Amino acid sequence: MKTALITGASSGIGLELAKIHASKGGNLVVVARNKAKLEELKSDLEKQYGIHVYVIAKDLAVPNAAIEVFEETENDGIQIDYLINNAGFGLYGKFEHTDWLEESNMIQVNITALTQFTKLYLPGMIQRKQGKILNVASTAAFVPGPTMTVYCATKPYVLSFSEALNNEVSHYGISVTALCPGATKSGFSVAAKADKSALFQNSKLATSEEVAQFGYDAMMKGKQVVIHGILNKFLAFIVRFTPRVLVVKISRKVIDK
Ligand SMILES: NC(=O)c1ccc[n+]([C@@H]2O[C@H](COP(=O)([O-])OP(=O)(O)OC[C@H]3O[C@@H](n4cnc5c(N)ncnc54)[C@H](OP(=O)(O)O)[C@@H]3O)[C@@H](O)[C@H]2O)c1
Repeated sequence: MKTALITGASSGIGLELAKIHASKGGNLVVVARNKAKLEELKSDLEKQYGIHVYVIAKDLAVPNAAIEVFEETENDGIQIDYLINNAGFGLYGKFEHTDWLEESNMIQVNITALTQFTKLYLPGMIQRKQGKILNVASTAAFVPGPTMTVYCATKPYVLSFSEALNNEVSHYGISVTALCPGATKSGFSVAAKADKSALFQNSKLATSEEVAQFGYDAMMKGKQVVIHGILNKFLAFIVRFTPRVLVVKISRKVIDK
């Protein structure tokens, strides 16, 4: 049975990904800061599916937290077959007013930890000639986002990194999938102080369950990039042919409160 390590499994898309993997009979390593939520998830999933869930409470904004997680799984002899880099957060506000510590933590979680986890778990996958990596990017990977400037700049990194790495490792039988959701119902908007943003006012927002199922299926099929939702797919396509200045202006209108 395959074991998946999921970062950010205490809430939203990550929590739903954990439920989906458990429902297939897979074991889990779940990582996030909120230990109580992870323990609750462990108890629910172990009871419901008879699988094993290993909880690691860790703040991924702390440099080298990924190494500590890796050492813990290595010391306990846990093989990671699927690595799901999902943890991430945003921050609403004009760059001139936002807090550097929050932004530097964001870069650490959204970019550095994701890259370091991949660096650490990839060699084992290469040795076994199998493995799957799912990196949660965003439709922000295609469009700059004024008033969520740093967050939106972290996601093109995730997309570019995933696409290039998939090209490097696919011949080993390993796939790297970038999942690009649009605005989704989860803890994200409140954590980003963006709950009043026009982006999250749509009553037809995708649910975390829908996005997680879509991403999990794409990872299992070994797809390189997947965009959730027809409108989001269309937007990612049309921005290629729209003047960049106009794209950024429209993006500001969509995100700004
Ligand atoms: N919701 C959206 O509209 C949307 C759209 C596109 C992409 N995404 C991406 O989807 C991913 C999941 O977000 P979500 O929407 O499910 O939001 P969420 O409900 O707020 O979940 C975020 C998860 O990341 C974890 N996390 C945040 N900071 C962390 C830290 N310092 N250390 C460890 N874990 C941390 C949180 O756990 P703890 O708080 O317990 O640490 C939580 O489990 C993110 O990468 C986000 O950028 C979201």
